[in-house]
Amino acid sequence: MILRDRADEVPARVRKLVTTQAGRRRARLSESGRAAIALLFAEEAARPSRTEDRRASPRSVVTPPVAESSEDAPAPVLAADDRRVIDDIVHEYRQRDRLIASGLHPTRTLLLSGPPGVGKSMTMQSLAARVGRPLIRVEPTDVIGSLLGESARSLSSLFAEARHQGAVLGLDEIDALAKRRDDAYDVGEFKRFVTTLLVELDRWPGDAPLIAATNHLDLLDPALERRFEVHLRLGFPDKPARAAILQQVFSDLTLAPSPETVAALVAVTTGTTGASLTALVHRAARRAVLDDEPLDRALLLAAAPRDTPSDRRAREQFAAVARDTAGLSSRIIGELLGCSHTAAQRLAQAGAADA
Ligand SMILES: Nc1ncnc2c1ncn2[C@@H]1O[C@H](COP(=O)(O)OP(=O)(O)O)[C@@H](O)[C@H]1O
Ligand SMILES: [Mg+2]
Repeated sequence: MILRDRADEVPARVRKLVTTQAGRRRARLSESGRAAIALLFAEEAARPSRTEDRRASPRSVVTPPVAESSEDAPAPVLAADDRRVIDDIVHEYRQRDRLIASGLHPTRTLLLSGPPGVGKSMTMQSLAARVGRPLIRVEPTDVIGSLLGESARSLSSLFAEARHQGAVLGLDEIDALAKRRDDAYDVGEFKRFVTTLLVELDRWPGDAPLIAATNHLDLLDPALERRFEVHLRLGFPDKPARAAILQQVFSDLTLAPSPETVAALVAVTTGTTGASLTALVHRAARRAVLDDEPLDRALLLAAAPRDTPSDRRAREQFAAVARDTAGLSSRIIGELLGCSHTAAQRLAQAGAADA
C-alpha cells in the first residue's frame, strides 16, 4: 500500500518533539511546538531520509523508558476495576512470550475515555513506563491540518515510527478529530485522515500497546470506537480515590496538612477531578509557603465554595464538614466562606441536618 512505502519519512526532529520521555510529565505541545511540527513535516517531506541517517543523529535519541517504580511516571489513582484492567495489560506485555507461545497476543489497543483531568494522559505515561517502552504521544491536531493533504501521511509516518521503535503510541485527545469535522475546512482530507487511522489501527502489530484517549466519547466516530479491543471509561474519583490522590500529591511536597483537613477536603470535593484536586493543593501550598498562611487554612480556603454564594447547598455542606470533620469554629468557617460567624453557624447546622 502506498502509505506504507512512505512510512519512514517521519523526521527525526518531529520524533523528538512528540516523544514523551516516559517519566517526564510533559505539557501538551504549545502553539509554537505545533507550528514547528508543521514546518518540520514540510521540510522533511521534501528530502528523502534513510533510517540509518536518523539513527545516527543525536536528535533522534529516545530517552530510555523508566522503570515502573520511577517517581517520574507515577501511576494514576484509579477505581479498583479500572486498575485491574491496566494491571492485566501490563502483565500481558510482561508475559508476552508465554501468550505468543499459546497462539495469543497481548491487548493491542486501548481506548481511554472520560472527562478532562481524570488521568487519561497520566495512564498512558504510566502504562508505557510499566511495560518498559518509550511512549510516542501525539495529539491528532499536531498532525492534522498542519499541511493540507499531508495529514494522513503524517499520521502513517507516526505509526510507522512507533512500530519501528516498538514504542507505545499514545493518540491523545482524539476527540479533536470530531471537532475538526465541524470546521468543514477540508472534508476530503479529514476523511482520508480517519480512513488512515482506521487502517493503521487494524494493522497495529501489538508489540506495544496503542492507547487513544478522548474527553468526548459522544463525538467519536463509532467506527473508530469499535476498533479498540479494550475501552476503559475513567470517572470522577470517589472518596477513597480522592484521599489517595491527596496522599500522592503531598508525598511530592515537604509540607503536610493535618489528617482532619485531609478528611474535610475529601468530603467537600465530590465531583472534582484528580487534576483539579492537584491544582487546588498546589495553589494552597503556594499561599502557605509565600504568604505564611497555615497550610490547613489555605487548603480549606481553596476548597471553600466562596465564589458561588448562590450555591447554598455546597456552602452548607462545606460548613458542616469544616465544623464536624475539621473541627473549626464558626468564626473561622465564616472567614473561609466570607460570611459572619452566625451565618456560618446556621449553614453548618443546615448542612449537618442534610448529611
Ligand atoms: N487518577 C489520578 N490519579 C492521580 N493524579 C491524577 C489523576 N487524574 C489526574 N491527576 C493529576 O492531574 C494531572 C492531569 O491529568 P491528566 O492525566 O492530564 O488528565 P486527562 O488526560 O484525563 O485530562 C496529572 O498529571 C495528575 O497530576
Ligand atoms: Mg489528557
